[in-house]
Amino acid sequence: MLPALRPLLAAFSIAISVFAPMMAAAKDNGGVIVFGGTGRLGVDIVRLLVDAGEDVTVFSRTGDAGKHFKDMKVRIAVGDLLDDASIGKAFDARSYRVAIDAAAQRTEIRLPDFYEKVTRSIVRHAKRTGVKHFISHGSIGAGDNHKMVPALASYPQTAALIDKGKAEALIIAGGVPYTIIRNGVLPNTEPLPPATHKAGLTVDYTTFSAITRADLAILTLDCIDNPARLNRIYHAIDATLPIPTE
Ligand SMILES: NC(=O)c1ccc[n+]([C@@H]2O[C@H](COP(=O)([O-])OP(=O)(O)OC[C@H]3O[C@@H](n4cnc5c(N)ncnc54)[C@H](OP(=O)(O)O)[C@@H]3O)[C@@H](O)[C@H]2O)c1
Repeated sequence: MLPALRPLLAAFSIAISVFAPMMAAAKDNGGVIVFGGTGRLGVDIVRLLVDAGEDVTVFSRTGDAGKHFKDMKVRIAVGDLLDDASIGKAFDARSYRVAIDAAAQRTEIRLPDFYEKVTRSIVRHAKRTGVKHFISHGSIGAGDNHKMVPALASYPQTAALIDKGKAEALIIAGGVPYTIIRNGVLPNTEPLPPATHKAGLTVDYTTFSAITRADLAILTLDCIDNPARLNRIYHAIDATLPIPTE
């Protein structure tokens, strides 16, 4: 070994010996349940969780959700987000330290209170069963935030953004430590774009940008077991991506 490398490797091995027990302790303390885990953002989050050694459950209304996770050790909890009882059953089946919501309403027939209804159920059952952290993916422009974002000034607030504002209020009042990650525009070009690794979370609530789902997944993992991210609302921003004009 080159003598110059020895101090570097020594420091590295100290870092591993300090962090490894902390990570193991965290992961022994309950698993992670992901709502919307079969979606485009959700799949990326699940993959990173599995890579990080987490015990992962994906809540899905389709019994064949496992097809998304063929090479991964993932448990499926079958249920419908619009069915409170099935959400309760999923929370009762195991002990979770973290719940993540990456679900989106993408059906033709849209319920005006989808996010409010779904969030009410998740937060209620998470609180009841002692979940330590709820991470929710919302939208920039939700609720009162719409008035704060110059980039949205010429667009009337949609029903979905009003709905997401109500969902945020339920999360804040719900009693489960939370992180709300508001997203702007998620590029849908296929194949989905890779991470830029230039994205970040900010508490500047006037900001708006595009952001890849791959970067959002990385930012989601960064919130887990991170006390600095608890009870915070963030905008997920990537200044390197152009803001779509339509
Ligand atoms: N797309 C955007 O531009 C945009 C903008 C701002 C914020 N966001 C937020 O970013 C997040 C991810 O969006 P995305 O576009 O990646 O999502 P997506 O690909 O549309 O995936 C939606 C997920 O929600 C699940 N889901 C929907 N209704 C359900 C129900 N009744 N019961 C159980 N699961 C249900 C879907 O399950 P199935 O597989 O069963 O359909 C799927 O896993 C969402 O929180 C969204 O609100 C998106």
